Amino acid sequence: MDLNLKQFLNNSKTAIDQQLPLYINELKAPSSLKEAMLYSISAGGKRVRPVLVLATLRAFNHDEKIGIDIACAIEMLHTYSLIHDDLPAMDNDDLRRGKPTNHKVFGEAMAILAGDALLTYSFQLISDMNCHNVTDQMKVKLIKELAKAAGPEGMVGGQVADLEGEGKSLSLQELEYIHHHKTGDLLTFAVLSGAILAGASDGEIEQLRMFAKELGLVFQIKDDILDVEGDAKTIGKPIGSDSDKNKSTYPSLLSMDGAKNKLFEHTNRAKEYLYNINLENSLLMSITDYIVERDH
Ligand code: IPE
Ligand code: IPE
Ligand code: MG
Ligand code: MG
Ligand code: MG
Repeated sequence: MDLNLKQFLNNSKTAIDQQLPLYINELKAPSSLKEAMLYSISAGGKRVRPVLVLATLRAFNHDEKIGIDIACAIEMLHTYSLIHDDLPAMDNDDLRRGKPTNHKVFGEAMAILAGDALLTYSFQLISDMNCHNVTDQMKVKLIKELAKAAGPEGMVGGQVADLEGEGKSLSLQELEYIHHHKTGDLLTFAVLSGAILAGASDGEIEQLRMFAKELGLVFQIKDDILDVEGDAKTIGKPIGSDSDKNKSTYPSLLSMDGAKNKLFEHTNRAKEYLYNINLENSLLMSITDYIVERDH
């Protein structure tokens, strides 16, 4: 990994890891709820979505500090999706971010509520953003885009298709739908939110959307591959979870070689979109490589 990227990942992760618990601690809410929220938020995680917000701001030569709040909001929403994804009624997994899953520690009811709280609080954080460069118009656009990315037309829709696809043989098109929505939409929002805060033009936003859509697919194809080839200790979650549940994944549909070819194909497409955007995009380019090469 090149030194610039390493430094950027470390600095961004540190900034986000410091801010997230502060936001939860300041809540006037039952301490048991805050404890369950903090447990999953502080368990680690690569913070890829926050990093994408900050890297996109950097691509516009914009001050990254303006992105910290939205980055925290996205990470909270993402963490909610993981807590619910692990529930017995969904993927029924016992390990997440190297620790027992939220419901294993706090029980199912609290895990559901901690997820609900992280989801709703993320929108509260955006509406509370207090920076003179962030206009009300920007906030409404951010809230609308995030609601769309996370809701029925986005992540939740993708999760439903994922569950309904268990035990069936899906077409590549159906599998792409799942991956785009359950994973791609939130990653895309991370990139777009950075662009919105940087005051990007509609044209730039559309170009970045196409880049991020490919990146989202790359991210989930790699996640599917790691579920087969990864090391449970390194990835911090169980191996073989997908095949245990007869999930449709890229390796199950296309074989491992086919999945890796698709990974390569979509990585190249993502990079082509990036080349066509006239921005300082070297960091986004290295993050794309990092997502492909990651071992967790
Ligand atoms: C896992 O996301 C769930 C997917 C959408 C594939 P990450 O791989 O970003 O998980 P953390 O945040 O690093 O734990
Ligand atoms: C989950 O996909 C995507 C969301 C949580 C929205 P997976 O079910 O493949 O994620 P992991 O592998 O459990 O992290
Ligand atoms: Mg799942
Ligand atoms: Mg899962
Ligand atoms: Mg997975």
